[in-house]
Amino acid sequence: MNPVLPPVDPLPLPAPVWLIVLLQTVTFILHLLAMNLLMGGGVLAAISGARGKANVPHHRKLAETIGGILPVVTAATITLGIAPLLFIQVLYGRFFFTSSILLAVPWILVIVLLCLAYYGHYFSALSETVRRERFLWVAWLSALFVIAIGFIYTNNLTLMQTPERFRELYLSGRSGLRLNLAEPTLLPRFLHFFVASLAVAGLGTLLIGHHARRRGDPKFGTWAARYGMVWFAGATMVQVLVGFWFLLSQPDAIRAAFLGGSIVHTVHLFGAAFLALAAVFLIVMKPDSRRHFWISAALLVVTVVVMVLVRHWVRRFMIGDVDGFEQMSVETQWGVLPIFLVLFVASLGVIGWMLRRMRIESGATPDRID
Ligand code: HEM
Repeated sequence: MNPVLPPVDPLPLPAPVWLIVLLQTVTFILHLLAMNLLMGGGVLAAISGARGKANVPHHRKLAETIGGILPVVTAATITLGIAPLLFIQVLYGRFFFTSSILLAVPWILVIVLLCLAYYGHYFSALSETVRRERFLWVAWLSALFVIAIGFIYTNNLTLMQTPERFRELYLSGRSGLRLNLAEPTLLPRFLHFFVASLAVAGLGTLLIGHHARRRGDPKFGTWAARYGMVWFAGATMVQVLVGFWFLLSQPDAIRAAFLGGSIVHTVHLFGAAFLALAAVFLIVMKPDSRRHFWISAALLVVTVVVMVLVRHWVRRFMIGDVDGFEQMSVETQWGVLPIFLVLFVASLGVIGWMLRRMRIESGATPDRID
């Protein structure tokens, strides 16, 4: 591969490559977990909103509970996205900026879609039931906008790792009105994220059910736990198919590495898939057990961590030979780095504290508007 690329940034890196990669990976995992709740939660809230409107009371309550959480989850998704965005720019700036410019119009549209989805989720969360159900299209549109944002991200991140296409795309017109639709991994990769978000939101619904039971609402609690289980298990089963499609769509060398060519990569990929299925098995065995829930949630987090590593390796396979890391100089900013790390850990603590304060588990929502 001999792609046309901007030169390596002459400014030194503020920290060693391994540390930036580590921070990028950790912060991306956090972004991904919040984003899954937002994307899948938005869809589940809209579906339950529709069923609630048709007079199914449990769905009405679930739509209200998930809808009340979504504005916070949106804020968390955005905040937790900023850190990996900074790290990706530092490490892969000449790839990421180029692909962002090539997809200029949809890329800039992310901000508009994000604002509209955020307003929409707030509108639904702060509305009385009657008003929320009358304006159900707002919930659907917000969910759709979030999905569209995810799709645009996948377009940009796939284009970024195929720099051999940059020149041809640039010469094909300067309007910036394009997506990366010719990319064979685009659809399975996006579906992989989307289906995962439904599974994670299903697990979140299960948690809502457990808390409702503890709060003395066993009917709704048991129903919500079962309903969440169906989404979690169903989506994970669909994911097995989507995952294979995603694997088969990869370039030959990568597919071969993950299909036995490299034992480390193969074990990681299939190990992660196995953990996800084990999580489903535990939940289906005992959907009412809190212990099973927490073990499954832990397995799911490990699955996400390993999948993010797999994704990182795929990126290395694709652009590792042209990433220019060895040409980058490093001048570690020892004055700033510890401050960043302390603030980063403190911010995670603050988020945890806020979640506790909000008592998400009690379904408490802010004051409503008429
Ligand atoms: C709120 C709606 C959002 C959704 C649904 C969303 C969804 C996604 C998805 C699906 C990916 C993976 C794409 C792929 O690899 O194919 C991704 C990656 C990423 N997102 Fe978000 N995102 C959202 C908001 C944001 C925001 C506001 C930021 C930044 C401020 C952000 C920063 C990132 C970064 C930097 C990555 C790539 C990280 C990496 O490759 O290491 N996201 N996002």
